[in-house]
Amino acid sequence: MSYPYQLKSLEEYKKAYKESIESPETFWSNIAETFVWKKKWDKVLEWNFIEPKIEWFRGAQLNITENCIDRHLATIGEEPAIIWEPNNPEERTRIVTYNRLHKRVCQVAQMLKNNGVKKGDRVCIYMGMVPELAYAVLGCARIGAIHSVIFGGFSAQSIADRLEDAQAEFIITCDGAFRGNKDIPLKSVIDDALIGNKTVKKVIVYTRTRTPVSMLKGRDLWWEDEMEHAETQVEKDGVVSFPAEPMNAEDTLFILYTSGSTGKPKGVVHTQAGYMVWANYTFVNVFQYQPGQVHFCTADIGWITGHSYIVYGPLSAGGISLMFEGIPTWPDAGRFWDIVDKHQVNILYTAPTAIRSLMGFGLEYLNGKDLSSLKVLGSVGEPINEEAWNWFHKNIGKENCPIVDTWWQTETGGVMISNLAGVTPQKPAHATLPLPGIDPVLVDENGNVIEGNSVSGNLCIRHPWPGMIRTTYGDHERCRTNYFATYPNMYFTGDGCLRDEDGNYRITGRVDDVLNVSGHRIGTAEVENAINMHSGVVESAVVGYPHDIKGQGIYAYVIYENTHGDENLTRQDIMQTVSRIIGPIAKPDKIQFVKGLPKTRSGKIMRRILRKIAEGEISNLGDTSTLLDPNVVDEIKNGSLIS
Ligand code: WT7
Repeated sequence: MSYPYQLKSLEEYKKAYKESIESPETFWSNIAETFVWKKKWDKVLEWNFIEPKIEWFRGAQLNITENCIDRHLATIGEEPAIIWEPNNPEERTRIVTYNRLHKRVCQVAQMLKNNGVKKGDRVCIYMGMVPELAYAVLGCARIGAIHSVIFGGFSAQSIADRLEDAQAEFIITCDGAFRGNKDIPLKSVIDDALIGNKTVKKVIVYTRTRTPVSMLKGRDLWWEDEMEHAETQVEKDGVVSFPAEPMNAEDTLFILYTSGSTGKPKGVVHTQAGYMVWANYTFVNVFQYQPGQVHFCTADIGWITGHSYIVYGPLSAGGISLMFEGIPTWPDAGRFWDIVDKHQVNILYTAPTAIRSLMGFGLEYLNGKDLSSLKVLGSVGEPINEEAWNWFHKNIGKENCPIVDTWWQTETGGVMISNLAGVTPQKPAHATLPLPGIDPVLVDENGNVIEGNSVSGNLCIRHPWPGMIRTTYGDHERCRTNYFATYPNMYFTGDGCLRDEDGNYRITGRVDDVLNVSGHRIGTAEVENAINMHSGVVESAVVGYPHDIKGQGIYAYVIYENTHGDENLTRQDIMQTVSRIIGPIAKPDKIQFVKGLPKTRSGKIMRRILRKIAEGEISNLGDTSTLLDPNVVDEIKNGSLIS
């Protein structure tokens, strides 16, 4: 496969950038021409940010799986599409060729059809990182069902809320998932999530861990049985086929839930054509992917990073995507380096939190590991601090590999601001320059655009790009108010940002009530709601504070009605409650019991003060004169858990 739109030099980048801003429609239609369409578009772009309405490639028909699979079969059918590395290094690696992927995806499509899944139905996928997860995602796309993958770390309650919001009718899950020395009982979590659920008709269960599960008659089916039956249907005389459903460009491809500043996660909707073009274009350009290279993105497919850079980006480029079931620290902290060595990985795309955690284990885990295959390193999910950047550059890249610091979001579908590996300049801790098609602006609180360099403000994007969010599932108004209402005619990212003297962007972090814990987005309101579910809790307020490994830690101030008991036990109970309601990733790191919260006369919690105390900055709290009861601040300061 060749990538005629791959930018090879700074000059080419500058030229492409200029064209993309001056004539976006010509620019994107030229790129789109290189994909497989069942019908070409009538109009490249139709948009307004008032409703908002965004339509790319209107009138076109396609199926993304033909672009990710079928178009590669004649040339690289016997080459690997997915290399799967199991949790346990003793277990055998699986190599899935494009031919095999084609067969499996056709089988899943047939299996879904056999079970009554139709175009447009929502299928929830709750699995560990096994190849079958990729087959499930692509099988849905093949028949035009909308997939909604839920990360395996979410609890039953979180799943129940998402199933309800998406009105999901089908679930694909596993008996369990292996992660490090743990075996996570996914099917039993699904059983809990389904108590009281009225929409789900069938649950298909793939066997991975052989954890005992209960199978409900008429509802629960084994993946293996269903797939075997489907195999005889899709394969005749050695020819495999399941027709790829023609999809309209703006039909929904998937829903992915993410946290916002309210208590309820939103279902970010991505559509077929624009998302495909964007995932592919950003993959090919940011990582400077070359055919035959092994791309290892360490994310889970439960997050957008996995959707775009394990599944859709690499496969649409005919690439080799390495999928890892386990965690970076098991059996020991050298696991990533073992994998790089074993599979001769060329591109390693990971998160600052993983880098910082591995840094802490020391360099001995690198001993004897051959990392010379590495060509490009990447970082995503949160700002990467210079120390981690330098460690990654020196010890992993041996000062020979460009590092791409990729800023983007679930809502943006793919990378928005990043250097292009080895093509545009890198600068530690800076995402640097926008990709072609991206017109970033910094604005002040009043929405005035801040021009010039060496400035900071709130990051907005001015013009639509193909991979952007189209709506929030079932609630378009929420999409409008969340992203398009703060500043007129702009998409508001929720991030604060600096632009340096050379025009490089440096993302400084969220400016809303969203935390970024180990690269995972967690809404403070969501955690507060979960804490408040604990009997005895009167009220709570959650803020973030700087954490050496996680980036941000979760600090909860809790008013508890009865403090006679053992405070530590109560803390653990509250953490357990949060774990049950959201998942272990949202567990507070610190819980401080307080008698009152700093509130204004109108009853609004002054989080600014709580954030300062959580950051350990107790001497300079700013103006507290508008507080209803300034005494609570002293009480909170005295009880602060940060030394
Ligand atoms: C938020 C989006 C993008 C996939 C993973 C997270 C932060 C992301 C960077 C980066 C600084 C970053 C932002 C953004 N973020 N990448 N390279 N530098 N900050 O997706 O869960 O939608 O979170 O992650 O704050 O808004 P997400």
